[in-house]
Amino acid sequence: MAGLGEHITAMVRSHAAGDDSAFYSVALQVAAREAKQGHHVLADDIRRAVDASRQATPRRNVTKLAQPRGDLADLIEASHPEVTLRDLVGPKDLTERLRQVIAEQRQRKRLLDHGFAPTHRLLLEGPAGTGKTMTAAVLARELSLPMLTIRLDSLLSKYMGETAGKLRLVFDAAAERRGVYLFDEFDALGADRSGSDVGEARRILNSFLVFLEQASPESIVIAATNHRSILDKALFRRFDMVLTYRLPDKNQARAVIKGRLGSLLRDVRWERIDPHTEGLSHADLVKSSEAAAKAVLMRSETQVTPDDLIVALKARRSASLG
Ligand SMILES: Nc1ncnc2c1ncn2[C@@H]1O[C@H](COP(=O)(O)OP(=O)(O)OP(=O)(O)O)[C@@H](O)[C@H]1O
Ligand SMILES: [Mg+2]
Repeated sequence: MAGLGEHITAMVRSHAAGDDSAFYSVALQVAAREAKQGHHVLADDIRRAVDASRQATPRRNVTKLAQPRGDLADLIEASHPEVTLRDLVGPKDLTERLRQVIAEQRQRKRLLDHGFAPTHRLLLEGPAGTGKTMTAAVLARELSLPMLTIRLDSLLSKYMGETAGKLRLVFDAAAERRGVYLFDEFDALGADRSGSDVGEARRILNSFLVFLEQASPESIVIAATNHRSILDKALFRRFDMVLTYRLPDKNQARAVIKGRLGSLLRDVRWERIDPHTEGLSHADLVKSSEAAAKAVLMRSETQVTPDDLIVALKARRSASLG
């Protein structure tokens, strides 16, 4: 267990970075250490102080917050995901860039004090099932923020003015309440829904971009799409970072399967399995692994064999690729 000096150093660092949840978590570690040494009264005092100060700063205490209310209730769905960056399988440069976003957000106070905004506007694009929505969840989890998914069906109204008003509500919320705001299937915003007025969709997209431009750097705004081609190139420049997702290569496919199956999978000869993973998405691989695992467990066995996996991968391929 870390000593007092290390705990104080960690607390000073997290204080400087404005990372409340890390700060409290170190305080609770100190409480645990004191309890272990038999100092129960002191340990209780520390825990109570942490609880009280978390409650005293509700706007900054973003770890667990209720569902949005009022006008926002229909527009935004809050969740508190558990997936971490370690769960996300992807090329190294992708995970490195996400690490960078997390680091900048953690140190945002320092950056903002010197006139620099942390990366907070992300565009994620790539095929279905490659981890775009998951990335929003990972960022929320790593930063101890709620994930706030915008319901596009509620956002998009027949009337342009109404949609712009709702967009304003969402961006006001992002300035008020720190979180990871996800516009999933973002292309729907720029798509022509009525069939009659092409300019209308364009105006909605433009009003989104105006709000994005002024978005508070306290929250992360993510737009995700799997239709890159329909998005305007000029639009890409409006984001601080554009991340491209791709289908997994052989090694990433292995990592996804291993990650999902854990100890159910041992000493597998991957050469047999590899050809069957080609062209499948991360999501397909997770689903196949789950199907194989269930089949094995229902036979009262404890190990997934290559044959189990191959059967599941083949079934998935025909289901997803037709
Ligand atoms: N890169 C990845 N690493 C590990 N698991 C992944 C990855 N991508 C997807 N998955 C698994 O597949 C599920 C679905 O993925 P996700 O919803 O993030 O895909 P998406 O890219 O948002 O797809 P869509 O374009 O259809 O919205 C995840 O919850 C996770 O279990
Ligand atoms: Mg998605």
